[in-house]
Amino acid sequence: MAVKRTTIPHGGGSDKQSPIVIEKGQVVVYSVYAMHRRPEVYGDDAEEFNPERWETLKMGAWDYLPFNGGPRICLGQQYALVEASYVVIRMLQKYQDIVGIDPTTGNEIPSLGEDKTDKSFRERLGLTMSCLDGVHVKLTPAV
Ligand code: HEM
Repeated sequence: MAVKRTTIPHGGGSDKQSPIVIEKGQVVVYSVYAMHRRPEVYGDDAEEFNPERWETLKMGAWDYLPFNGGPRICLGQQYALVEASYVVIRMLQKYQDIVGIDPTTGNEIPSLGEDKTDKSFRERLGLTMSCLDGVHVKLTPAV
């Protein structure tokens, strides 16, 4: 909520490049979900699940905000990233194969992103995003 009359730098005018006036007391809401799907940052396929985009993606400081930013940035960011990295690496060490399974048939399903027409993945939206239907996988221990 604006504590005084102010402006935000972009979004106004027909080309959306002019400042916008924010009156004192006005609430400004933004959607991280929408920001993380901006074609000018993530490409024309921004709506698609394509982790490989991160190999070459160049972005500004405020283009990717899972932990938000500024004075109220998540205090657990480094902890969460270390923990997630640790779990992923231990999984990769422990299992030689991790395959997605359709829980209704038991059949293997193609990796997300391989089959662009596959709509079986459903998002669960909150402050963060997760898999609505859970993650069903077959794990083969490494020998
Ligand atoms: C992947 C995991 C996590 C994500 C995506 C995440 C994301 C966020 C986001 C978006 C905020 C709001 C920041 C704002 O108000 O601008 C936040 C706040 C916060 N997070 Fe996390 N968080 C995660 C894990 C954690 C963990 C593991 C801890 C503690 C061990 C933690 C502690 C906090 C605290 C204390 C705040 C409030 C900071 C404040 O209001 O000053 N978070 N987090």
